[in-house]
Amino acid sequence: MTTITEPPADERGLIFITPTAFADPTTWHETAAELRRENPVARVESDGWPPFWAVTRHADVLEVSRRSDVFHNTGRSAPGPDIQYDILDVIGIQPRSLVHIHGELHQRHRQVTNDWFKPAAVRRLQPAIDAIAEEFADRLAAHGGECDLAADIIVPFTLRVIMSIYGVPESDEALMLELTQGLFGAADPEYLGDFSDPLSLITNTVARFQDYFDSMTADRRAHPTDDLATVIANGEIDGEPLGENERLWYYIIVATAGHDTTSYALSGGIEALLRNPDQLAAVHQNPELAGAAAEEMIRWTSPVRSFMRWAQSDHQLGDVLIREGDAVLTSYPSANRDDAVFADPMRFDIHRTDADRLLSFGLGVHYCLGSQVARREVRTLLSALLGRVSRLELAGEPTYAESHFVSGVKHLPVSYSLR
Ligand code: HEM
Repeated sequence: MTTITEPPADERGLIFITPTAFADPTTWHETAAELRRENPVARVESDGWPPFWAVTRHADVLEVSRRSDVFHNTGRSAPGPDIQYDILDVIGIQPRSLVHIHGELHQRHRQVTNDWFKPAAVRRLQPAIDAIAEEFADRLAAHGGECDLAADIIVPFTLRVIMSIYGVPESDEALMLELTQGLFGAADPEYLGDFSDPLSLITNTVARFQDYFDSMTADRRAHPTDDLATVIANGEIDGEPLGENERLWYYIIVATAGHDTTSYALSGGIEALLRNPDQLAAVHQNPELAGAAAEEMIRWTSPVRSFMRWAQSDHQLGDVLIREGDAVLTSYPSANRDDAVFADPMRFDIHRTDADRLLSFGLGVHYCLGSQVARREVRTLLSALLGRVSRLELAGEPTYAESHFVSGVKHLPVSYSLR
């Protein structure tokens, strides 16, 4: 009889759940590369977290994402410590968004907004995205040659786009920004504000999201329009309205998933362009390259750091036997630097021919619903900004957000000359 022994926990795997580790991308990527080479399905243990397997190779992240029959999304799909979920439990909030459910139920929920995100529908959004991009590119002039491109332009731009998709007034932007940062950036001391710890911030944030979206639902039921809020407010599953909790989480997932993600792709992607002046010059001279540049920016930044899946049966993944009930973390930034798939993966290269194999948007049944919107946002703002400047340079060291879930460059000091 063979006895199966668990491999020892690999300390290097702590990079996937340590918020500060993401603020130092060079060290992070060196460690992830070591894991891909030496321990691609690594057991990770940390106090206050469920033990999990960190999956770092492209092929294995693909397999976990595609085998949704074995690897389920659950209420704990977003990687987080036990206490974060215990608190939600205590206050009676069960995460129930698209990323938290699986199977038939997930398909029926996804159906509620699927048409809204189909390529033809998304194409219709282009004039609105163009207008917003032009408006925010105009702000370069107001800043007079130097600004924090991330905080001053990119973050409010992506926020405005998602708000316009929803159809909510500009006057609510500051509140939405505070709410999304409270939920996704809660571990970052800069976003704690008056709260003593991340958990009280999250608790407060969810409650405020609830109030905000409850009144939006009432409004769109009374006065339906053609915006996304109307689709969610009036969404039905099998002829029944979405449950209150399900509706709340539907709003939250679109508002949050559609905002910070895209802004980090833009800020980190533009940082990479600024560090590669030849490539910046190429897009500058040939705006047709903006689409290819956007794809590489999204591969390079991988703003969603990981998701957690839960095995429903035993499954062999590479050399490791994953057991029923085990948690598996899919590392998108690591998969996107796998040299088995990407030529010279540590090099930012807008001319690469393999960028379309990026896993930044996941894959399989949970594949990012907003990927087409995100791609349009990135290439449109990039084109609009480059259309305004004759020179664009880094004016200081960028700083990175400290979050293990969605993160990237949060301050991007630049100097520029207008055309
Ligand atoms: C660069 C920007 C973005 C990145 C990197 C990103 C990444 C992701 C990832 C990794 C997933 C999970 C995929 C999986 O589990 O296989 C996801 C799901 C999702 N994303 Fe995005 N996303 C981005 C932008 C957006 C935008 C703009 C929206 C909405 C307008 C959006 C809405 C969603 C939704 C609703 C889901 C849940 C889909 C499901 O579980 O069925 N995302 N995204």
